[in-house]
Amino acid sequence: MQTPTAIGTPPWTRDDLLAELDAFAALYARRPVRDNQGGMKAPHMFATWCMVRRLAPDLIIESGVWRGQGTWLLEQACPGARLVCIDVNLRNRAYISPRATYSDQDFATQHWPQATARSLVFFDDHQDAVARLDQCRRAGLRHLIFEDNYPPGQGDCRSLKQAFAQGGAAAEALAGQFDIYAEFPPVFQTAATRWNTPWPPTPAPLLTTPGTPAQQVFLDEAQSYTWICYARLR
Ligand SMILES: C[S@@+](CC[C@H](N)C(=O)[O-])C[C@H]1O[C@@H](n2cnc3c(N)ncnc32)[C@H](O)[C@@H]1O
Repeated sequence: MQTPTAIGTPPWTRDDLLAELDAFAALYARRPVRDNQGGMKAPHMFATWCMVRRLAPDLIIESGVWRGQGTWLLEQACPGARLVCIDVNLRNRAYISPRATYSDQDFATQHWPQATARSLVFFDDHQDAVARLDQCRRAGLRHLIFEDNYPPGQGDCRSLKQAFAQGGAAAEALAGQFDIYAEFPPVFQTAATRWNTPWPPTPAPLLTTPGTPAQQVFLDEAQSYTWICYARLR
């Protein structure tokens, strides 16, 4: 099989995303961590905001908190959701949510009796994404976002994109686990990736030039994009 960037129908349309760029940029200007080095920047913050608002989960489990920028974003995107935030090292937080429950125990070691068919796990913890699928299935968690979805040869953990790129029966079996797998498009696609390599299969970028001054931030931070994806387990 070809390395997919999408299986099934993503829960967004390109026109919807284009219409939300400026509103998101205004929100992003209010972010609590000005320079989130080591964490999400505008392209993936936008992706997360769009995906979470569409999914409207009742419970969000965030695995990989770092300075807390993602926690703040998840609150903005879905203020009514219960929020459980996990990091094996919680000492780096600059933003601490008054609403979230924090834990330093790995996702796989915990029980999730509160999980429902609408609950979402947001993984940005640099752990093996394929192993996370089994852990989620056992917990009854179907809606997943993987923030880092590195192409072959890059990153520090096995991603779904890498597992698909291996091809053969293993990739077919992986594809069979999802009714949706959808890489979120980059806002801008730079000439080469952040590693100065050719682009692997990637959804078409939303823009080629900024249409408004507010959209410049997506171009300034375009190289932070790493194929963030939404996956829904069958
Ligand atoms: C890239 S940072 C997260 C960035 C954050 N989502 C943001 O956008 O600001 C990765 C974080 O994963 C944490 N981490 C490492 N192993 C983990 C694990 N097994 N479970 C949860 N978090 C883990 C690290 O301590 C680090 O804070």
